Amino acid sequence: MNKQAAQQFNIGIVGLGTVGGGTLEVLTRNKQLIEQRVGQPVVVTNVATRTLRPEQVAGVPVSGTDPFAVANDPNVDLLVETIGGFDPAFEVVRQALANGKHVVTANKALIAERGNELFALAEQHGVCLAYESSVAGGIPIIKTLRDGLAANRIDWLAGIINGTGNYILTEMSAYGRLFADVLKEAQELGYAEADPTFDVEGIDAAHKLTILASIAFGIPLQFDKTYTEGISYVTPEDISYANDLGYVIKHLGIARRTPKGVEMRVHPTLLAKSQLLANVNGVDNAILVHGDAVGSTLYSGPGAGAMATASSVVADIIDLARQQAAGVGKPVYPSLGYTQMETELRVLDIEDVESEYYLRIPVQDKVGVMARIATVLETHNINIEAVIQKESESDEVPIVILTQRAIERELNKALEEISEHAAVCGEIIRMRVEPFHGGGN
Ligand code: HSE
Repeated sequence: MNKQAAQQFNIGIVGLGTVGGGTLEVLTRNKQLIEQRVGQPVVVTNVATRTLRPEQVAGVPVSGTDPFAVANDPNVDLLVETIGGFDPAFEVVRQALANGKHVVTANKALIAERGNELFALAEQHGVCLAYESSVAGGIPIIKTLRDGLAANRIDWLAGIINGTGNYILTEMSAYGRLFADVLKEAQELGYAEADPTFDVEGIDAAHKLTILASIAFGIPLQFDKTYTEGISYVTPEDISYANDLGYVIKHLGIARRTPKGVEMRVHPTLLAKSQLLANVNGVDNAILVHGDAVGSTLYSGPGAGAMATASSVVADIIDLARQQAAGVGKPVYPSLGYTQMETELRVLDIEDVESEYYLRIPVQDKVGVMARIATVLETHNINIEAVIQKESESDEVPIVILTQRAIERELNKALEEISEHAAVCGEIIRMRVEPFHGGGN
């Protein structure tokens, strides 16, 4: 549709839950400021929602519960999708784009899993599908990577990109609180996904990492190739051992360009306490990005919550309203920042990744066990960096080991052999340790 230099920019919102409600609040609260920045009125003219809270009723032009009514409304210039999930969000967005409307979405699952086709559709219709709020809540990391760092070859990025997970790990580490209690609180605070398994099992972080990796390396979105571990297996015992060794455990998303291919992985990670990312706590997110020209830069701030996420949604709205006010008919940039994607760059299997490791091996306290474990690791060319075995009154005692850098395939073989030893009496816990030396590879 793209009205040239229209007098007013009309917005439709579908879904008025946490993020949609926050968006409406920011648009209302900062209306004058926003219009000064855009140069013309920015008006919410149509809202479809199934959840209208009493405090939202005044002045909200709710036309009903049908999101397609907004996607098909000829007066709407831009549709804000804050329903979440795929059904009906995918079809609503598809319909709006096909009708020539810009779309702003906070839906990371939609972008990570269906973004390739939706971006192509947006381009075909000469409109934008903007998604700043889909990653890291209020941190403008999409525009930073795509625009601010556009001069750089990005070597790697690593981030705490799930606010709920960081909140849980922080509260467990700092106050010894129980996982389930903190998760419940994160839900009450509006941080968690509708299905909190997405937060706890790393799916939400994997969606976000998929998006960041595509912008960083110019590769198509490949959620199915992102290796994913959640935080549900992180115990107070591991947090305490990590602490004794000078580390904290954080849930990280890591994307790295290597000579062999691209790493895309999400998992609990031990970070030395002195590292910047180790000190990002609570619901905050942070992303450390290394570019060949600029070196390392860090972006941090609130990663979840109504107002933080709305800050990014409204920034996208302003961006597109400005384009319309200026009479720009076509989007000024490709969705992921590339006119041509790197389709040959392969995503590495997790077994090809090299890392340092934290191991906790539950064993019976018998002569020769430690020596046997050391021998197996040595056979697989894995050097030990540090070991802890505390005194224990019981027969069972964990051996905790930090290794030097090793290939995961070799570590897996070593752990298989170790687990067959008669003295090993439980599941071996393994977590990756990241030193972030900087530079390329
Ligand atoms: N559940 C998400 C989080 C919301 O905790 O980070 C923001 O994407």
